[in-house]
Amino acid sequence: MKIGFFDSGIGGMTVLYHALRLLPREDYIYYADTQHVPYGEKSKTDVKKYVFEAVDFLVRQGIKALVIACNTATSIAAKELREKYDFPIIGIEPAVKPAILRSQEQGRRVLVFTTRLTLREEKFNNLVARLDEDHIVDGLALPGLVEFAERFEFNETVVRPYLTTQLAPYKLEEYGTVVLGCTHFPFYKDTMKTIFAPEVDIIDGGKGTAENLARTLQKANKFQQGTGSVDYYMSGNKVQDPQLLQQYGRLLERLQMLDNLQSPT
Ligand code: SIN
Repeated sequence: MKIGFFDSGIGGMTVLYHALRLLPREDYIYYADTQHVPYGEKSKTDVKKYVFEAVDFLVRQGIKALVIACNTATSIAAKELREKYDFPIIGIEPAVKPAILRSQEQGRRVLVFTTRLTLREEKFNNLVARLDEDHIVDGLALPGLVEFAERFEFNETVVRPYLTTQLAPYKLEEYGTVVLGCTHFPFYKDTMKTIFAPEVDIIDGGKGTAENLARTLQKANKFQQGTGSVDYYMSGNKVQDPQLLQQYGRLLERLQMLDNLQSPT
């Protein structure tokens, strides 16, 4: 059986990329809810409804595990999804804890980039309230990056002015760690690196989530010998357009390039 991946759009591919590297013998179904993206600008009630519709669809295709590769959907629906289904469900949360530890050592602050809905959500605010004893965490919603990603817009000349405008009120030299709390954001790590000082860590939860998936499958004895295939769906319709499939392939290549920037071999 396949592993279901779910996101409001293409952001979840930043997690799928790591899963394909770590678990290349699994087969995947990737569901992008392109009809309703961006989730971060919608109400909690609407997002919950969309998530359950999408997961019901994936269940009908037959999945052995689900990765909610979307921070907003995780914060809104992970708990209730786990109550409804009995297969393993892996969510993604902003890596606030390691960021606080790192920044505290450096005497610096933490900046968390998320969607507006994640920033408003109890789950995120409880997490920060629990961990941020020294009040060093700031949050900033960057909905424009979700829009850019969904348009396959990665051009630095477009993305950089947006980021610098959003970051203008912040003293960037105060930050030691930036947390990417939306799976659409790792596509822009290269531009972010040109804005922050070189020693600033820009971290996301993609790799950790894929590792969590691997551990979960191992524990449940659910590994298989597949081919690493990915079936892509856009809100219930199988993607067959060769041009779009090629775009998805290029996204994975872009993620590989960004990964190499991070840890040159
Ligand atoms: C969005 O659809 O607004 C982005 C969702 C996310 O990855 O948090």
